[in-house]
Order: sequence, then C-alpha cells, then structure tokens
Amino acid sequence: MNKIKIVSTGKYLPPKILTNFDLEKMVDTSNEWIVTRTGIKERRIVEDTVATSDIATFAAKECLDKAGVSPDEIDTIIVATITPDMFFPSTACIVHKKLGGKNEPFSFDISAACSGFVYGLAIAESLLRTAKSKKLLLIGAETLSKVTNWKDRNTCVLFGDGAGAMLLSTTTDENESDGIISTYLSSDGNYDNLLYIPAGGSRMPATKETVEKNLHTITMSGKEVFKVAVTKMVESVIRCCQEANITPQQLDLLIPHQANLRIINAVGERLNLDPQKVFVNVDRYGNMSAATTIVGLDEAISQGRIKKGSLVGLVAFGGGFTWGAAILRI
Ligand code: ACO
Repeated sequence: MNKIKIVSTGKYLPPKILTNFDLEKMVDTSNEWIVTRTGIKERRIVEDTVATSDIATFAAKECLDKAGVSPDEIDTIIVATITPDMFFPSTACIVHKKLGGKNEPFSFDISAACSGFVYGLAIAESLLRTAKSKKLLLIGAETLSKVTNWKDRNTCVLFGDGAGAMLLSTTTDENESDGIISTYLSSDGNYDNLLYIPAGGSRMPATKETVEKNLHTITMSGKEVFKVAVTKMVESVIRCCQEANITPQQLDLLIPHQANLRIINAVGERLNLDPQKVFVNVDRYGNMSAATTIVGLDEAISQGRIKKGSLVGLVAFGGGFTWGAAILRI
C-alpha cells in the first residue's frame, strides 16, 4: 500500500463581507442575537456573476502554486460541494478546464453537504493507497449565498461562501510520515427532512410556484440539527482516534466543522480538549459547508498553529445527515 503525503493547501475567500449589522437591515435580527446564538460576526459573499467553480479554481491555484506543481501533473480532481455550478458537468470537470491542465484527470463531485471534505479525504485515501491516483487535488467549495433564503432569519444569518483545496500525492520518501492516519465516515438518511433544499431536483423540479415559495433554498430545523451534530461529531473523533491508536487529547489541533460556536465548544468540552486546541474561524466566515475544515486547516498552517509533523483532526457534520472525521499528520 502506498504512503500518502499532504503536499500543500490553499484557500479563497471572496472579498465582499456581509456583517451582522448589514443583516439587521435585511431581516428582523440583531448582531447581539447572532453572536450569542452562533458566534458568527460576519461572512463572505460572492458577487452575482461568481460560481462555485470560480472560487474552487482560485483555491486550487493557490494550493498548486505553493507546491510548485503544474495542473498538468494532476491525475484526479475531486470537488466536495452542495452548490455545484449546475447538475452536470461536475464542478470538478469545470475546475479542470479553468486550471488549464493538458492532461486528462478523472474528475468528479461529492455530495455529502458539510461533511463533503472529510468524505473526500477518505475517498482520496483509497485512491492514493491503491495507486489509482498519484497526485490528487481535493477541493471543498461552496457558494451557499446562492441557495440561501435572504428573507428567512432562521437560516440566512448562518451561511457564507468560500473554498479550500488540498494537494495529496503518493510518496516513497522514507523520511516522510504517512499523511492520512485514519478516517471514519457515517450517515443516517432518516434525518433527510431536517436539513435540505426541497426543490430543483427530480422530486420537485423547478416551477414558477417552487420559485415563488422559495423552495430552492436551504430549509433547516436548527434545534434538532444542533443536538445530533454534537453527538455525532464527538463520536466521530473518538472512533477515528481509536483507529489511529491515540486519544483525542493527543491531537495537536482539532478543526471541527464551523457551523456554530456553541456546537464547536460543546464538542471540545465533551472530548475534554483544551480550548486552545480547538480551531475556530466561524466568527469571520459563518458556515461554508464543505469548505470549512479545509479553509480552517489552511489558516491553522499559515498562522503557525500546525507545523510539520503535527497531528490534526478534522470532524464534520451536515445534511443527510452525514458525519465523519479524519486524523492527519501534516
Ligand atoms: N434573529 C433573531 N431571532 C431569531 C433568529 C435571528 N436570526 N433566528 C431565529 N430566531 C428566533 C426564533 O424565531 C425563536 O423565536 P421564538 O422563540 O419566538 O419562536 C428564537 O429565536 C429561538 O430560536 P431557536 O431555534 O430556539 O434558537 P437556537 O438557540 O436553537 O439557535 C440555530 C438557532 C443558531 C440555528 C441553532 O439551532 C443551530 O446552530 N443549529 C445547527 C445548525 C447547523 O449545525 N447546521 C449544520 C449543518 S448546515 C449544512 O449542512 C448546510
């Protein structure tokens, strides 16, 4: 079985900032309510003309530039997203075109909502271990602002746009330690009606009525999501650590999915982690679904909170419900 190297990471956050004070002018809410209930202060929003493949490509370019790797060398592109440019072709295929690589990588999208990047890591691990892939670009990218009901205060304060990318490769270098230590994935489709976009698919294709009723935007039962999210994220970290033969306290940093500061704190407390070891950036970006953990990882590296050799846990939870974790050696 091949050893895996995490070569580099990159990210892209759109420059336009939407603050809680901006939202106060749009819906019946307050900065105080949003900060107290979620920890979010502001989020990034793409311009109308920008699609998920655009920001995914920016993140991928930064990642490849850092590694000095040409798009021609990439043999696999995976994009985790619930806001693809269109049903098909996949956003991964569009990213391939935009990167301009002359090779013909195999490219596909993953739909696992906020757990998409962690799901992607497990898939990447299988492909690289078995040498089906040798240089793989894994991207988590979302333009959730395009599927947000900006009149619904229950949801519109929560989400933001952003993208992150990771380049992984196989390695035979004796001095390199294995980059993916363990992964754990799970789901329960019985919760499908607690967090979803009702219309636009084959169950309820777009009509004038579905547009008028705002059925193409995120619908969520926040309280129920909250409870299951905490339980399943804690369980995922424990199971992933068991497989890696470590305790959660041995992690140098845990990067949880950034949906709500209260969820992040509850997960850290239940795992008995020092708060310094739990990464938070939800205050600046809100919930970017599949992009949160990889943007967090890229920021933690550039802030020097993770160094070469650090043990890092990623854990996520999202619509489906889906959940999972990964333990990485950077
Ligand atoms: N501003 C002011 N008041 C509000 C707002 C708002 N933006 N939103 C809701 N309220 C009101 C509600 O109407 C309710 O009023 P009522 O008591 O008069 O009915 C009151 O505030 C309390 O609402 P709750 O739903 O009880 O608030 P809660 O403390 O549960 O917080 C929240 C809501 C923030 C949504 C929380 O439940 C949460 O974070 N849930 C998890 C979300 C999540 O994890 N999503 C992850 C996956 S996302 C994905 O996969 C794309």
